[in-house]
Amino acid sequence: MPDERLTSGVAEWTRAVDVDRLQPSRPIAVKLRGKHVALFLHQGEILACNNRCPHEGYPLVEGALDADCVLTCHWHNWKFDLKTGATLYGGDNLRIYPVKMEDGAVWLDIRDPPAAERAERALEHLELALAEFDTARIARELARLDAAGAEPELALLRVIQGTHARLRDGMTHAYAAAEAWLRLRDTLAGEAPRLACAVEALVYIAFDTLREKNYPFTAESTAWNAGDFAAAIESQDEDGAAALLNGALAQGLHFADLEPALAEAALAHYNDFGHTLIYLMHVRRLIEQLGTEVEKPLLLAWLRSLIFATREDLLPDFRLYADALAAWPAGARSGGLPPGADAFEGQSVRHVLDATVAAAGSAPLEVYFALMEASARHLLRFDERHALRTDNGIADNVGWLDFTHALTFGHALRQQCARQPRLWPQGLLQLALFVGRNSKYLDPNMAAQAKIREWAVSDETAFHERAIAAIVDHGVGLPIFPAHWLKTWSAVRDEVAAGLPAGARSAMLAAVNRLLAVRFKQRHALRTAHQALGFVGRED
Ligand code: FES
Repeated sequence: MPDERLTSGVAEWTRAVDVDRLQPSRPIAVKLRGKHVALFLHQGEILACNNRCPHEGYPLVEGALDADCVLTCHWHNWKFDLKTGATLYGGDNLRIYPVKMEDGAVWLDIRDPPAAERAERALEHLELALAEFDTARIARELARLDAAGAEPELALLRVIQGTHARLRDGMTHAYAAAEAWLRLRDTLAGEAPRLACAVEALVYIAFDTLREKNYPFTAESTAWNAGDFAAAIESQDEDGAAALLNGALAQGLHFADLEPALAEAALAHYNDFGHTLIYLMHVRRLIEQLGTEVEKPLLLAWLRSLIFATREDLLPDFRLYADALAAWPAGARSGGLPPGADAFEGQSVRHVLDATVAAAGSAPLEVYFALMEASARHLLRFDERHALRTDNGIADNVGWLDFTHALTFGHALRQQCARQPRLWPQGLLQLALFVGRNSKYLDPNMAAQAKIREWAVSDETAFHERAIAAIVDHGVGLPIFPAHWLKTWSAVRDEVAAGLPAGARSAMLAAVNRLLAVRFKQRHALRTAHQALGFVGRED
């Protein structure tokens, strides 16, 4: 009978079948200690492999073995070298088992390799899966990593180390979302949703680095100096700023030591839709999650995104920012009634900046709450026809993410200013710019209070459960969209937990409820064609 155990040297042999049962044209399948094994007789040699194809599990005993010992799985034509297990066409390698013949029987060593070895192999194969953007294989390799007892954090750490220099423009939402996906994973119990979150964490990075070459950072190192760092950023000198970061880390400084200078740089200008401050929050959390090994790659990628960030405060629409910041009163606050969201909702950039400066005497958090409530009302009142139009100019390319960023930027701002209150003026004025820039895309016939009632969240526990289910099983093709569902929802959930006045709380919950019902128009073929024709038609 099969499944009889014998120990021979370091190998542990399990009796599989009598030798005479095997014939060249008749491979057989056996089950040994829960493992499905296919046995082949090839030119006098007995070979054994996992009977479940590593692609989708179809039985390889049904496959075809040719004279060169190439085994083909008929389901999707993957091909394996049955002597080594190497995949000749397809993806994942085939597990093969050592074989010996003794006492007229075939014996197999079916022990699994040590967990560390299996984890390392899964990590190596994961790299291949990411390079090919093979999402199904990414999921399988992460499941194998898990089966070997390792966490997806280990994979994320390796992936960040391997991809940070391939982000040509520096950090993207992919790293930020990876942190959010793994944080969500930590709150879930089910095996499949947990794996889905881990897969999403890596898939977006694979998407953003696909077919990208390496854009190496300088290896130079300069003694850390916060003033020099700010000056290097200001002059868009990536090498100079990176050398200072390298120097800081070489001196033994860590993220927490550098964060004040980094946050100051992120808020020195209104740039790139607030991304660099948002990313900084995620850099901090990723370092907390993955350890100091990711400090350098993350900080360099973050730095590059800041170097290349668009200086939006130089654009005509936002030039008032510098004046507003200069008008911010220095010194002690004078008190006074805090503004409400009505002071900001639906107002122009100029008006919102003026109203924010006028509120400088109030506690910053009170002004913050009003601006966040206005941002949430704006999301609720967004006239979606702007997101769907095909005949607009490039300047009016606006969509739901223009509105979500106000909330995620605000959330990052509150976190940062809890540690560095001196940054409130820059932060509040930049939040004001978000509010003002989005005002012109509101539906004038839509009242905020009616929308808040329409999308009200009455049972927060049930809402969050529904939100998680929708986010995990998002069904959206481009990873940027589910990432923004996740990031906006988690920002609002964290804001609620940190404490919000009733008005801001109900508006922000309603806004994220509304957002989760959006069917994103992910691509704009007709609009892009329209804009290209108009642009080229005006070219000299
Ligand atoms: S299941 Fe074997 S190739 Fe797809």
